[in-house]
Amino acid sequence: MDIAIIGAGAIGLATAWKAAEGGAAVTLIDPAPGSGATHVAAGMLTPVSELTYGEEPLLRLGLASRERYPSFVAELEELTGLGTGRRTDGILLVAFDSDDLRYVDDLRRFQESLGIPSEALTGREARRLEPMLAPGVRGGLLAPEDGSIDPRRLTAALLAATERTGVRLVRRRAAGIVVERDAAAGVRLDDGTEVRADRVLLAAGPWSGDLDGLPPGTVPSVRPVKGQVIRLRTRAPFLGRTVRGLVKGSHVYLVPRADGEIVVGATQEELGFDTRVTAGGLWELLRDARELLPGITELDFAEVTAGLRPGSPDNAPMMGATGLPGLLLGTGHFRNGILLTPVSADILSALLLDRPVPDIAAAFTPDRFTADRFTAEVSQ
Ligand code: GLY
Repeated sequence: MDIAIIGAGAIGLATAWKAAEGGAAVTLIDPAPGSGATHVAAGMLTPVSELTYGEEPLLRLGLASRERYPSFVAELEELTGLGTGRRTDGILLVAFDSDDLRYVDDLRRFQESLGIPSEALTGREARRLEPMLAPGVRGGLLAPEDGSIDPRRLTAALLAATERTGVRLVRRRAAGIVVERDAAAGVRLDDGTEVRADRVLLAAGPWSGDLDGLPPGTVPSVRPVKGQVIRLRTRAPFLGRTVRGLVKGSHVYLVPRADGEIVVGATQEELGFDTRVTAGGLWELLRDARELLPGITELDFAEVTAGLRPGSPDNAPMMGATGLPGLLLGTGHFRNGILLTPVSADILSALLLDRPVPDIAAAFTPDRFTADRFTAEVSQ
């Protein structure tokens, strides 16, 4: 089986590795692997702390992926000898004022109703865990099973895994889908050459609809949602675990790495394909981060970046067949791409290889957005 994958972000890379390991001849197409949202991402592994009401199926997918992470990184490390910076020290959600605390309490009750362990903390208890927190922090919630990973190290390890398993990497832009006898038959590159394939997986994030040859409506809309991120460096211990904060209703997170990097994110802006880093975006992040952790102003500045999260119409991933036979979709992971990488690679490689697909995938097929299915469901 010849498989072409468009897009070498975390999802495309991991799926290419797993499909090649399963016996397929895989070509991965991307002019700059791992340079999109994956390069900017902070790498929180948190189905719980980023939970949104009404997203239970997504929560279950996130929990399944978090459970898959230990074996996934073990396989990756064994194959490549490369580490991923994965941490399992929990995530602390803290509230700045009493309104923020009400939100955190509601979230804890919602989590409890779903049987997910979390621990309510007073401000003092939160500061005992993280002594750099501001004295005024009102309280918090510890998600002990959450953690983080370094997406840049993950990308490097995944790239090495694709090399080891014989994936052919084509560093060119995909310009279109080759369609023959009403089915996808390969990918046309920007230099006019073609990569022939039995199956094509489109994992190009917000650029997934931007290909010639796609019949109208084949790919539901994937919108770019900008996130600006600051990277700081500390020479002395500063944070023991990831801290997410709610500051007067505004969200900020700080993800520490063992090497002293601290990633501060992230804005959420719907501005099309704009990746400018703005003074306003950085000010918001630093303002909120300083309210929670006044000492951050002493840290060294390292980097600012902006990336584009791929958002589907309901902000959940789209994984599965499209209306064009032979063309599959693997995108729309929005704020959860790194968390969902292991489970997505399992689902997408199984789909590509015609192997049994985990049941959990059923809620995420792209056809949930097609008019026919909607009409059938409402008329029942
Ligand atoms: N998951 C973090 C973010 O999207 O900003």
